[in-house]
Amino acid sequence: MQKVLVTGGCGYIGSHTIVDLIKNGFEVISVDSHINSNRKPLSGIRKITGKTIKNYKVDLSDRTRTQKIFKDHPDIVGIIHFAALKSVGDSVNEPLLYFRNNMLSTLNLLECSNEFGVKHFIFSSSCSVYGNAKELPVTEKTPLQEAESPYARTKQMGEQMIHDAALEMKKTDFILLRYFNPCGAHDSNLLGESPTTKAQNLVPVITETAIGKRKSMTVFGDDYDTRDGSCIRDYIHVMDLADAHTKSLQYLIKKKNTDQVETFNLGIGDGVSVLEAINAFEASTGQKLNYKIGPRRAGDVVAIYAKIDAAQKRMGWKPQRDINDIMKTAWDWEVKRSK
Ligand code: NAD
Ligand code: WQD
Repeated sequence: MQKVLVTGGCGYIGSHTIVDLIKNGFEVISVDSHINSNRKPLSGIRKITGKTIKNYKVDLSDRTRTQKIFKDHPDIVGIIHFAALKSVGDSVNEPLLYFRNNMLSTLNLLECSNEFGVKHFIFSSSCSVYGNAKELPVTEKTPLQEAESPYARTKQMGEQMIHDAALEMKKTDFILLRYFNPCGAHDSNLLGESPTTKAQNLVPVITETAIGKRKSMTVFGDDYDTRDGSCIRDYIHVMDLADAHTKSLQYLIKKKNTDQVETFNLGIGDGVSVLEAINAFEASTGQKLNYKIGPRRAGDVVAIYAKIDAAQKRMGWKPQRDINDIMKTAWDWEVKRSK
């Protein structure tokens, strides 16, 4: 079995990806400092897969402790690097923390990959690298605009750091995955998104409102120049994302890549408005949502969605789930975790 190091394995996307990797025959170890998670997802993973995953509780910005993991596991063939702080708003208030955590972690992992000869490296990037994109849908070639937050800058810099480091790291191939709006939960209802602070993203805000954790929610603006006036995004189910990571790894292992560093958008390839998302929630769950229309949220782009042909054609990846599946699984998870 090929051994993969998943960083941020107790987080939202990392934990779902571990399940998919195990299903596809990989041996997985995780490293997670729990700065934004706890151990609970490990038991979800065990219940779903029957496998107990070892998590190293290590802060990846600590180089010595990070290196020790590689000394213990010199046979790691690939790294999937999810670990990062991810709140756009917090990053504006604490940019130094974001730069320390996200940049040092990535740098240490690159140095360890170089030192220990890790062959495959997959980096969690984000649609936020596009900033206010000047064309829609965005392709991987759409020029990146100024980052709108320190968080987005850590993703732009992470990508640039990898491109530069690759010139020295001749034995490692890289994939940069730019996720659009990840949401939804595992079908088993044993894993899902568990925000450690008050949710800010649309789908958990919807489910938290419907369950009664919030009295009502606000749609941030219905006066945009879109089909119904609300903002448009590309919502992608977390298990489709998980599948994309397994496929990325298999793609590199089979040497199907033509460049040492390749970049892929991961979305559903279609835009859904906030009001359409709310309608999908009500229709797929039978719940009535208490919402009101409010002012625009500062910093929101009007519309962004991906062109995903590259991931489809090159890696054979195709999202299998839509906004209704997202809402249904996110709701089931909310009901369960609120009990
Ligand atoms: P998450 O917060 O649920 O998971 C990240 C995990 O990494 C957490 O468990 C956290 O404790 C851990 N971590 C953070 N810094 C660490 C460090 N220095 N050392 C060790 N562990 C550390 O986030 P997520 O939603 O699963 O996101 C995973 C990745 O995907 C992140 O890089 C994020 O920036 C990126 N991303 C997320 C979204 C999204 O909306 N969820 C969108 C685009 C990109
Ligand atoms: C989606 C839409 C809101 C909450 C963020 C990050 C981005 C990436 C993905 C990490 C917007 C509207 C939301 C609410 C609402 N993450 N909304 N009422 O802002 O597209 O992207 O997550 O890389 O970097 O910025 O996601 O879920 O916050 O918002 O009307 O209470 O829902 O205005 O149009 P966003 P979101």
